[in-house]
Amino acid sequence: MKKIAIITGASTGLGREFAKIIKEKKEIEEIWAIARHRDKLEKLRRQMGPKIIPISLDLSNASQIEEVGHRLAQSGAEIRYLINNAGYAKFCSYGDLSIADSLNMINLNIGGVVAMGLVCIPYMPVGSHIINIASQAAFQPLPYQNLYSSTKAFVRNYTRALHVELKDRGISATAVCPGWLKTDLYERADIGAAKATRNFFGMTAPDKVARKAVADADKGRDLSIYGLYVNFCHISAKLLPQRTVIGIWLRQQHIDPYSHPSQQ
Ligand SMILES: NC(=O)c1ccc[n+]([C@@H]2O[C@H](COP(=O)([O-])OP(=O)(O)OC[C@H]3O[C@@H](n4cnc5c(N)ncnc54)[C@H](OP(=O)(O)O)[C@@H]3O)[C@@H](O)[C@H]2O)c1
Repeated sequence: MKKIAIITGASTGLGREFAKIIKEKKEIEEIWAIARHRDKLEKLRRQMGPKIIPISLDLSNASQIEEVGHRLAQSGAEIRYLINNAGYAKFCSYGDLSIADSLNMINLNIGGVVAMGLVCIPYMPVGSHIINIASQAAFQPLPYQNLYSSTKAFVRNYTRALHVELKDRGISATAVCPGWLKTDLYERADIGAAKATRNFFGMTAPDKVARKAVADADKGRDLSIYGLYVNFCHISAKLLPQRTVIGIWLRQQHIDPYSHPSQQ
C-alpha cells in the first residue's frame, strides 16, 4: 500500500515547513498538498519535487472535502500523517465581520479540521498521526480576535479528546499551539479594524514549531508547545483567573474596551 501524508494549507507558512519535514521521511511516498490556489501548490512541487501532489480545494466547503474521500477510495493509499494546518484569523471586533465571513472562519478552522479527520481516519493504520494546528490563542478568550481564538480553543479541546478516542486504533492526535509566527497570516488578518491585535510579541520562525510538532506526534503526545514564552503563557493561563489573563492581553495590545473605536 502506498504510504502518504496529507497536509492542508501546505503552500505557504507553517504548512510549507511541515511539507519540508515530512518530505525527509523516506517511508512517505506522496504528500497530498491541499490549498485553494493551484499556482502556489504547483510552485511547491517545482521546489520540492514529485513527492508533492497538488490538490486545489476550498476546505471551508464540506462538499469539496468529500472529494478527498473519493480520491482516497480510488488510490488505495494509507495515510501516515494527516496535518490539518489550513486556517486564518481576522484581527477585529465581533461586529467588523459579516455573518458570512464569521461563518467562513468557523467552517475552515473548525469544520475543515473535523471533516478532514472523519474522511481520513478510515485510511489511517496503527502508528499513524493526526496533527491539528490550534494556537497559543486557544489558552484563554481573546477579545478583538474573539472568533479566531474561540475556533482554536475548539481545535485544542477536540484534538486532545480525539487522541483518547483513537487509542483503540493506535492513532495519535496532537494539538499544536504556536505563538506568533513569521508567515503570511497577517495579510489576511489585518482588515484595518479600529480595535485590533497589533502587538505580536515573541514572533518565532515556523520551521521550529513544525519540527517540534512532528517530533511530539511521533512520540504520541497530545499537545505540542514550542518555546519558553509560549510555555510560560500556557502555565499562566492555567494558574491565573481568566479575567486577569484577558486584562494582561488588553494591556499588551493597548486596547481600552470602554473607549469609542474612533478614539483608538
Ligand atoms: N502565523 C501565526 O502567527 C500563527 C500562530 C498560531 C497558529 N497559526 C495557525 O497556523 C496555521 C497556518 O497558518 P500560517 O500562519 O502558516 O498562515 P498562511 O501563511 O496564511 O497559510 C495558510 C495556508 O492555508 C491555506 N488556506 C487558506 N484558506 C484555505 C481554504 N479555505 N481551503 C484550503 N486551504 C486554505 C492557504 O493557501 P490558499 O490561500 O491558497 O488557500 C495557505 O496555504 C493556521 O491554522 C493558523 O491559524 C498561525
